[in-house]
Amino acid sequence: MNAQQKKTMPQPRPDLSVEIAGIRMKNPVTVASGTFGYGREYTHLIDLQALGAITVKGLRMQPWEGNALPRHVEVPGGMVNAIGLQGPGVEGFVRDYLPFLRETGVPVIVNIWGTSINEYGEVAARLSDVAGIDGLEVNISCPNVKEGGASFGADPRTVAELVKAVRRRTRLPLIPKLAPNVPNIRPYAQAAAEAGADAISLINTIPAMVIDIETRRPVLSNKVGGLSGPAIHPVAVKLVWDAAQAVRIPIIAMGGITGPEQAIEFMIAGATAVAVGTATFIDPSTVLRVIAGIEAYLVRHQMYSARELTGSLKV
Ligand SMILES: Cc1cc2nc3c(=O)[nH]c(=O)nc-3n(C[C@H](O)[C@H](O)[C@H](O)COP(=O)(O)O)c2cc1C
Repeated sequence: MNAQQKKTMPQPRPDLSVEIAGIRMKNPVTVASGTFGYGREYTHLIDLQALGAITVKGLRMQPWEGNALPRHVEVPGGMVNAIGLQGPGVEGFVRDYLPFLRETGVPVIVNIWGTSINEYGEVAARLSDVAGIDGLEVNISCPNVKEGGASFGADPRTVAELVKAVRRRTRLPLIPKLAPNVPNIRPYAQAAAEAGADAISLINTIPAMVIDIETRRPVLSNKVGGLSGPAIHPVAVKLVWDAAQAVRIPIIAMGGITGPEQAIEFMIAGATAVAVGTATFIDPSTVLRVIAGIEAYLVRHQMYSARELTGSLKV
């Protein structure tokens, strides 16, 4: 067959599947923690079974109310939120949400946090005892709770200590979620990998603040929050690219995806999978459009697998 004939032959559908830390995803697209509830909230809006994985809102051991209102505000290019990790706690999640998620047959990634290294371990151990959880995304980078989150992600030694401690308590795939606001992401990614992480995810929101100039008060009750949405996308691409140079474990990338273009960009920079966050609030079907757009891109570029995209940056 000559090149011309090959070009005009109908191409088989590209293989969209990827594997992250042993989690088989039928396509590389999941939802970003905290922007998709526990999945069930979106059943009347999109077909959950189309997703590569469902990543749920952060959980700690106990139910947690989060911060007082107002806790989010729109800004040009995105939003600033300080929800403060509201959640039903591990037992509430296992009882009220997990049975539904299990039935979808879609891999479930549970985002966890704690106020101490010990609590992170406890949450991981408890979730390891129940069926239907495919991986743990460990939030060490939330800027919105004084008690935990970001403080653990602020030093590579603490990242290593925390990941090692959680690793000892679970066999589930571990995906630490790194903070974006560090001078150099590489030592953090390396610390996570060396301590036993199976993959890493990035980026969490970027610390931010909005002031009402009439009242001269902070808009958010928490005073400060985290910026997400299109404004942070190029920052995230740079961090994903940097992290991909530093570690061999897979990367789940998020930050400002509004369509397939940003998802593809992340994969070219080195991500194996991506997550759609804030864009879901504007249009819940964004995640489906991203999946379809990745497939169309692969066809257009005569690529046979989404895996070919990962790290394909030409420099
Ligand atoms: C309202 C809201 C709640 C969030 N809650 C969590 C959370 O519970 N755990 C976590 O690790 N990240 C949380 N995030 C961060 C997102 O998962 C994601 O990393 C970030 O928003 C960047 O992606 P985006 O620009 O597509 O939204 C939250 C983000 C938003 C906007």
